[in-house]
Order: sequence, then C-alpha cells, then structure tokens
Amino acid sequence: MCGIIGILLKKNVKASKKTDSLGKMLTRGLHTLEYRGYDSVGICILDNNGSLVLRKGKGTISNVSRKLSFNTLDGVIGIGHTRWATHGPPNDINAHPHFDCKEKIAIIHNGIIKNYLTLKKELKNTHVFRSETDTEVIVHLIEEKYEETKDFYKAFKESVRRLEGSYALVVVTLHDKEKLFFAKKESPLIIGVGRNGNYVASDIPALLEHTNKIIPLNDNEIGWISPNSVFIENMATGEIEEPSKRIITVNWKPEMARKGGYPHYMIKEIHEQPIALKSTFDGLVSDDRIVLAANKISEAKRIFISAAGTSYHAGLMTKFFIEKYARQPVYAFISSEYKHHSTFVQEGDVLLVISQSGETIDTLKALRAFKDGGATVISITNVLGSAIDRESDLSIPTRAGPEIGVAATKTFTTQILTGIYLAAHIGYQRGNINATELKEISSQLSQAGSVTGKSIVKSEGIIRELSETISQKNNAYFLGRGIGVPLAMEAALKLKEIAYIHAEAYPAGESKHGPIAIVEKAFPVFFMVTSDSIEEISGNIAEMNAREAHTIALTTQLDPGIEKAQTIIYLPPTTQILEPFVLTPPFQLLAYYSAVRLGYDPDKPRNLAKTVTVE
Ligand code: M6R
Repeated sequence: MCGIIGILLKKNVKASKKTDSLGKMLTRGLHTLEYRGYDSVGICILDNNGSLVLRKGKGTISNVSRKLSFNTLDGVIGIGHTRWATHGPPNDINAHPHFDCKEKIAIIHNGIIKNYLTLKKELKNTHVFRSETDTEVIVHLIEEKYEETKDFYKAFKESVRRLEGSYALVVVTLHDKEKLFFAKKESPLIIGVGRNGNYVASDIPALLEHTNKIIPLNDNEIGWISPNSVFIENMATGEIEEPSKRIITVNWKPEMARKGGYPHYMIKEIHEQPIALKSTFDGLVSDDRIVLAANKISEAKRIFISAAGTSYHAGLMTKFFIEKYARQPVYAFISSEYKHHSTFVQEGDVLLVISQSGETIDTLKALRAFKDGGATVISITNVLGSAIDRESDLSIPTRAGPEIGVAATKTFTTQILTGIYLAAHIGYQRGNINATELKEISSQLSQAGSVTGKSIVKSEGIIRELSETISQKNNAYFLGRGIGVPLAMEAALKLKEIAYIHAEAYPAGESKHGPIAIVEKAFPVFFMVTSDSIEEISGNIAEMNAREAHTIALTTQLDPGIEKAQTIIYLPPTTQILEPFVLTPPFQLLAYYSAVRLGYDPDKPRNLAKTVTVE
C-alpha cells in the first residue's frame, strides 16, 4: 500500500553541499518503499526560492523521476509518495502529493478517508478539486481551517479531527516553512531522528540511509518535526509525548535493504534464509519472552492463532506443533474472518498472531477484538515497533532482516522456526516433554539454517530446469499430509502470486473427493513428502499416475512408492522437525524461476502490496 517519506534537513548540512539533492534523496527513499506496491509516484519540495514545487505522475519511480527530473529539485524540506490507487484510477492527477487551491499546502496520505464525500460536499463550492481522491479533501479542509485560525498546527489538528477512516498523513506548507506535519491512525508511520535532520516514513527501510533511531507512532498521534525537534501529541488525551523516551534503535543496516548483486530481492531473500534462520534461532535461545509466552499459552483456556496469507500457513504449522508437543487443541483462523471467532472469546483465552510486517490491518483488528474480549495476545512479527508488536501483550521477534520482495520467503521460514520453538516450550511447561527432549528439539532447530542452505544448493538447478515445463502450464496441484498441508498451501500461494499460474493445495487424501476430476494428461501434481506420510502419499502418487498426471515429488525419503513419481526432487535427509525447512526452498525457487521465465517481475507482482493496511 502507499509509501510515504518526508525529509527535513538541517540548513548547515545543506549549506555544506556534501549531500545529494533533496529530490535525489526522496527518490532513493521511495525506491526502498517500492515493495509496498504502487502505481504512481510524486514529490513536493520547498525549494531554495521558497516555493513549493510539485512533480508527480503515473508509472514506475525510475520512469517518472527521470521524466520529471526529480533529481534536479533541491531544498531542505520535502515529501515523497508512492500511490496504490483506491479512490480514482491510477493517473497523473490522482497521484500524490495534492495541493490546496493556492498551492501553499501539499499533502501525502496512506489510508482511506471514509467520510470524504461528506467533506467534499461541504468544500466543493469554495475550493477547486483537481483529483478524484479521498486525500484531496484533507488538504482543502486544512486550507479552510487555516483561513479561520491563521495557526497552521491548529488548523491541521482541527482538520484531522474531522477525518473518519485510516490515515498516515504528512504535510508541507508555506505557512510554516520550518516543519513537516504528520498524523497517524491505523496506517503505519514512523519518525526518524538523525544527525543531519529529522524524517518521517511508512517503514524503516526508507530511513536506514539516514538513521537507525526510530520512533514508531501510535494511532491518534499528531505533531510535527523540525530540523532539531520532534513534537508528538496524543489527539485523544491532549497529552504531549516525550519523544526521546520513545526512540528505539534498529539493528538493520542499509545494505540489508539492497539487492546485493542479485537480480531480484526475492531470490536474494530465498538465499538469505540460512542466515535469517540462524539469527532468529540465536535470538530465541537468549530471549526470556519465549518462556513467558509458553507459560501464558500453557495455562490458556483455549489457544487461537490468527494470521493472513503466508503468515497463516506458518500459523497452521505452529498449530500442528503445539498440538503435537502440548497436546492442546489450537484453533487457527484467517485474520479477515476474525469477527466470527472474536464473538465467543473469553477471559483466559490466548491469541497468537503472526505477521511479518506487524501492520496487516485484518490481523491487527483480530488482535484488538480478542484483547477487548479479554484474551491475552502474543505476537510473532519481523518489524520492531510495528503496530502488532506494540499492541500485543507479549511480542516475539523473528530476526529475518528487512524483507523487500512482496512474496514472503525468509519471513515464512523464520516464523515456522519461532512457532516450533515456542510449541516445544509449551509442551515442556505442560509436562508433555521433558528437559532432555526440549534440549534435543532445540539442538535440532539450531540446524534449521544449515539444512535450508543445503536444500537450496541441492534443488536450485533442477528446479530452474523444471520451471521451463511448469511455466507453460495454466494449473497445478500441491498435495501433502500433516505438516505437508501448510507447505502445499504456501507452495500454491507462491506460484499463484508470483508466476500467475493457478495453483491449488489440499490434503492429499481429499483427491478422490472431487479435485482429481480435473486431472488429465500432464497436469502437474506436486507432492510434499513428509516422513510420516510415505505410505499414503505413495498411494496418491499412484492414483495421479493412473490419470497420466505429471507427478512431482519433493522428498527427503528414498522409497519405492515415492520413486514412482515422474519427477523426483531429492532433498537432504533430515528429522521431522526440520522437514519444513528442507521442503520449502524448492517451491519458493519454482515460483521465482517460473515468474522470471514468463517475464514477470517477481518482486512486484501485479495487484499486490507487501503490507496490506486496508480491509
Ligand atoms: O505482513 P503479514 O505477514 O501480516 O502479511 C500477511 C500476508 O499479506 C502476506 O503473508 C502475503 O500473503 C505474502 N506477502 C505472500 O507472499
């Protein structure tokens, strides 16, 4: 969803002429937010002549910035935006920033203003509207209020009070040339505190080249940044925050958010899994929160898991292992369906939410609904300071580093690692596994990174070749049993979202209950072969062979039944706990290489955004 960056440099930094033009810096920042998904781009700079210069257009950041010479714009205050269209089609006019009538105020926005039509009706006789966006009403509202108050912050605050819906807003104005104004509700926004100035952005990667000192903003916070200070006010209570107490230091490095010689982020992030898993494991073993979370969950009346997309598949894997080790039933549901499940939440329930970004609105809503109902909420997220991280009673980080490709890859395997590790501790708290067994599980999990690395090495070549055949297909099935089911679901999602090949996953035993009807000669059917499913999967392979399907087994097991598959991807043998880590890379690579063969950009699949902040 839309990406926001605002930069406010100290004047002496600019005067030293040691920095790039502000237009160039904003463009670089926007590039780091590309992964969020967008269709148009724009910047507005308060230039050295004291005017607001706005340039924007439909298209990629590279094309629009080149065509409109973003790099030539300079000054000390500027804002930049990537738009993911909601109100009004993607075009040059609907692109952000938006001006007020007199071109003295420019705004960028991520979110949806639900009452924009009512506001527009009030304003349209006295203001000139240029776009079809919900965002433009805000800038005219501020203009109107400023005419009344002649106090810009007051006008901004009064305008924000009128808004219903979700927003991360940043405003630059000629009425107060030393500040950038911001407000946040439901859409992510962070402040960066730097040596050369202060910053505001949707997400951490946009600020890494400037600072690693971040203040995540809470809902209903409003304020401004100036070159030397940050002002944050809670709109609901009127309390003024102490920004210095809110600063967190992130340990991500700027190069972690770059491609590092790989053609795409997705393939880089697939290859980063061994290190991401190692960092996550090292973090887990030294993190007291695991024991605290395991305590809470082991005492829970009922355990729920909520997540979306890939994170939901990691949730299903976690459910499997909690049920196995703790012998407690777990109810897993897709976050957007939270209303049904939250109606019967009770005190004593625990909700485990899983989210890479920590900002997925459906998951956040599930979290809030369960908290309101009296449940304890524990989260697993990859982004420190994200809304889910902050609003949970207890938050456990995955340490995958920034994931830029829209397709979740290293965050999936690190979520699984965290889920299994937590499950083992819950089992231990409940007395179902003893200290020696816990130690043994932990020791196996310490190998997750290295077995993932071996799987990548073993499968990449053969998968690249196989992608030639698969990329020609319109459909595929992915089947598994037990932990093979969430893996099959994740494999199907990857192929769909990146290579646009229709793929379905289901428990292999379901074949005869319907899906096998459409199987015909050469229809690709993948099998996730796990050690506890050899016999049954062998039967399923035979059934599909009998229908002349192209059967493909991803297996760590040498077995005559499995070897009847027409294509066999042998993966390094391992224990059951480590099977998810060995079986995952081949299907991630398959989606990647199929997309590349088909000429699609795997990092920016159509219609998708990395962080889904609207319902
Ligand atoms: O940030 P989250 O983990 O909460 O995101 C949930 C889904 O949108 C996400 O997992 C999505 O399915 C993946 N990007 C797909 O690869």
